[in-house]
Parts: sequence; structure tokens; C-alpha cells
Amino acid sequence: MTMGDREIVGPITRQRRATFSMTRRGSLKSLNEFKGLNAKSVGKGKSDRKAQESQTNGNPNEKSKRKSHGDKLSCHKLQESLLSSSSGFSNYRGILNWCVVMLVLSNARLFLENLLKYGILVDPIQIVSLFLKDPNSWPAACLALVSHVFVIMALYVERQLAKGSISEQFGMFIHFLNLSIILCFPMATVLCLPSITPVGGAFTLGVYTILLLKLYSYKDVNKWCRERRQTKARSLSRSLSCPSTPTASDSTETHVSYPGNLSLRDLYYFVFAPTLCYELNFPRCPRIRMGFLLRRMFEMLLLAQLLVGLIQQWMVPVIQSSMKPLQEMDFSRMVERLLRLAIPNHLIWLIFFYWFFHSSMNFMAELLKFGDREFYRDWWNSETVTYFWQNWNIPVHKWCLRHFYKPLLRRGASKWASQSAVFFLSAFFHEYLVSVPLRMFRLWAFMGMMAQLPLAFFVSRYLRGNYGNAAVWMSLIIGQPIAVLMYVHDYYVLHHAERP
Ligand SMILES: CC(C)(COP(=O)(O)OP(=O)(O)OC[C@H]1O[C@@H](n2cnc3c(N)ncnc32)[C@H](O)[C@@H]1OP(=O)(O)O)[C@@H](O)C(=O)NCCC(=O)NCCS
Repeated sequence: MTMGDREIVGPITRQRRATFSMTRRGSLKSLNEFKGLNAKSVGKGKSDRKAQESQTNGNPNEKSKRKSHGDKLSCHKLQESLLSSSSGFSNYRGILNWCVVMLVLSNARLFLENLLKYGILVDPIQIVSLFLKDPNSWPAACLALVSHVFVIMALYVERQLAKGSISEQFGMFIHFLNLSIILCFPMATVLCLPSITPVGGAFTLGVYTILLLKLYSYKDVNKWCRERRQTKARSLSRSLSCPSTPTASDSTETHVSYPGNLSLRDLYYFVFAPTLCYELNFPRCPRIRMGFLLRRMFEMLLLAQLLVGLIQQWMVPVIQSSMKPLQEMDFSRMVERLLRLAIPNHLIWLIFFYWFFHSSMNFMAELLKFGDREFYRDWWNSETVTYFWQNWNIPVHKWCLRHFYKPLLRRGASKWASQSAVFFLSAFFHEYLVSVPLRMFRLWAFMGMMAQLPLAFFVSRYLRGNYGNAAVWMSLIIGQPIAVLMYVHDYYVLHHAERP
């Protein structure tokens, strides 16, 4: 080949090599990324860089020749196996997919087994009978309607307090009376009225409990506004209003200040808004996104059906088959039934979480243009029990912090005592919402909630990272079905055991 020929062929060969190395580079990109990591971990980074430098500085022809020689002569280098922790490899996406595939396959087997054993148990008509005993009497709905009396009462007291027609002490007394009735009236009605079903009773008590927490917050915030107003008046301020810091989203809405907030419209906005903490000026969205609203509505309807179907088809048969081992105190069979119940119970709880905290709350928020959509945080990454309770139910957690925990701390209570008091209050409401509708007091829910304190201590003290996270998941997966089995067993013994 002449000199001229070489000049012509040279660039073509280089071009071909470049094309080849580009495709090779593309296909092996992920491997190279790992190699880079690996090189770092075994201290090869420097020599690699040197080699690269000499390649870029030297003659391209020389470089490619040396490279191809090197490729032919050596196929080994200093490196760790992927599964060794020192390899620095951390991409387990495929393993995660494998877990999902295994989960789907094993659940498909369970689903088939269940269908073959019990047939189709899903019955949409039965849902109605869970709420109503007699189609002509709607006690739960009537009780929910009566709750408006207490809303109007709270507003009336606040207006009188703002005008100064009644003293602060008398106002607080009426407020506490109103709140006590909200707590006791539905309880007494559910316990005395035989026509109300357990599900109807739980729904009513849920509505009243939410209202109780909301009106407590309403009372507190208006009181803080009066206190601010008095402090301002004392410091010779001209303004008699209670300004709350305006946010960017407020600019489109009219800014309300105390006592301008004491209107029926403002209070009912709060009653229906997906929050338990009152504010004079909530962050608002500029418009309703119809697509978002319809998606959430579709999820709500679909998931509600799925929840009921799973309970009827999967959970009820397992619970029914657990009664005998429980009565005979057959320990090994009891554990087997408990583990059997744990899977559907947990799945139903997860679906309920999404249905309630994502679909329903976002639906209400979108409808009301309510801006703060933080209804939950990443509780699934909890490495401590405390983190779980701080993040799984944000409306309740915010209420506990603002209206119970911080006031206790400010009054000089210790952190431990204040936390115990919050868990005690939460345990009381859990028991209230379960025991009253079932008309039996067994304290399983109360004990389950109070057990969170020693569990939190144990997990934070002895378990870290993934072990802590696994412990939180275990407590959720196993803890809940224990309480469910206990209540169902006691309910069964109380109402059905004496029948032949
Ligand atoms: C008990 C509970 C409120 C503790 O919450 P926490 O976040 O661990 O509490 P912390 O001690 O970290 O303090 C939280 C706040 O109090 C403040 N605080 C701490 N000590 C304070 C003091 N002496 N005075 C005033 N404020 C204080 C902190 O600054 C912090 O404020 P921030 O939220 O504005 O940052 C929480 O675990 C809880 O909500 N538990 C119950 C949840 C529940 O039952 N949910 C039911 C769901 S079904």
C-alpha cells in the first residue's frame, strides 16, 4: 500500500473502529458504570485514569493497536463478585421485580384455592345489610344529620365570645359541654338503639369523632386569635384583627381575619375540608382539575368494591375457620390461622390506606380547592415505630401535635409523659370506635395502641436500618390480625356461641 493509499484508508478504518466502539460503549454502558464503581472500591481508579490519559495524548493509531493487543492478551482484572458487599454494587431492581412476580404467583394460587374451596362469596347486596337492619329506619344517617346542631352551637358560642357577650370562662364551659355531648350522645344512642348495625355504629362514631377533633381545634384557634387581639390592644396597636401570615396562594382568595371568620360558610368549609386543624386562611388551589377529580372518584368507587369483595371472599372464611382452634385453645392451629389471616388483613389495610388517605382525601381536597395535600408521608420507610406514627396519618398527627402534645409540653410536662398522654388519648379513641359499635368492652385496641410505647422503645434501642424497618412491617402485619381475631372471637362467643 502506498503512502497515498494509507492516507485514504486510514480515516475510513478509524471511522469504522469509532463506530464499533460506540455501539460497544452503548451496549455495555451499565457494565462500565459498575466497573467504574468497582475500580473505585478496589483502588484501581488511578491506574485507569493514567491509561486513559496516555491514550488520549498518544497517536490514535498507536492507541487502538495497544488497546486491541491488551484486549487479546488479558481478560481478567482485579474485581469482586457482584453479591459481595465490597463490590459496591447496589442495583437490585431485577430482584424487586422477582419479588413482585413471586407475590403475584403465590397469591394467584391462594386465590384459586379460595375459589375452589368456597365458591364465589362476594355479595354486593350484603353491603347494604351491613349498614341497615330495616330499610325503613336509617338511624346512622339520622345521627349524622343531628351532628349539625353541635356545629351551629360551636359557632354561636364563638360569636358571643367575639362580641364579649359572655365571659371567656363561660364560653369555654359551653364549649366543653358541647364537646362532651358530641362524645357521649352517639355512644349512648348506639348502645341503646338495637336497630343500628355495628358498621352503621362505627360510621356514626367516626363522623362524631372527626367533628369532635375539628370543633376542639376551632375553639382553640379562635381563642388564640382573641388572645392575640388582646395583646395587640394592650400594646396600643390600632388593628383589632388577627392576621395570619399570608401565603402565595392566598393572593387570589380574600384574606380573612378574626372575627370575620366566624361565619357559617367558613365553619362548614372547615367541617368538610380534609384536615382536623382549623386555620383562618387555608392554602387554596386556583381551580378544580376535572381530570384529577374524576381519577380519584374512579379509584374511590373501584377500591371500595375491591375492599368489600376481599373481606367477603378472603377474610371472612379465614376468620370463621379460626373460631374452633381459638375456642379449643389449640396453640399451633391458632398460629397457623393467624398467619393465614395476616396476608388478606394486611392487603386490605394497604388498599384502605390508599383509598382513604390518597383517593378520598384528595377527592375532597380537589372539590374544595384545598391546597395542603400532605395527608401521609413515607411511613413505609419507617425504621422506628415513632417515625411510623409521625408519618402515616398526618391529619391526626398534626392535631395531636398542635392541640395536645405541644400544649402539654408548654405546661411543663416532660416529653415522655406528653407522648404517653397522646398515645393514651389515641388508644381511648381506637377502643371507642371499635368497642361501642360491637357493644362489648374488651380493650384489645386500647392495649394494641398502648403497646406501641414499649415497642417504640425496643425498636429504637436494639434495631437499626433495615432491621428496624422489618420490625415495623412485622408489627403491622402480625399485630393487626391478632386484634381482629380477638374481637371477632369475643363477638362470636357473645352473640352466636350459645346457638346450636
Ligand atoms: C406523640 C407524637 C405527637 C410525638 O410526635 P413527635 O414528632 O415525635 O414529637 P417531637 O418530640 O419530635 O416534637 C414535635 C414538635 O414539638 C416541638 N417541641 C418539642 N419540645 C417542645 C417544647 N418543650 N415546647 C414546645 N414545643 C416543643 C418540636 O419543636 C416539634 O415541633 P415541629 O413539629 O414544629 O418541628 C406523635 O408520635 C403522634 O402523633 N403519635 C400519635 C399518633 C396517632 O395516634 N395516630 C393515630 C393514627 S390512627
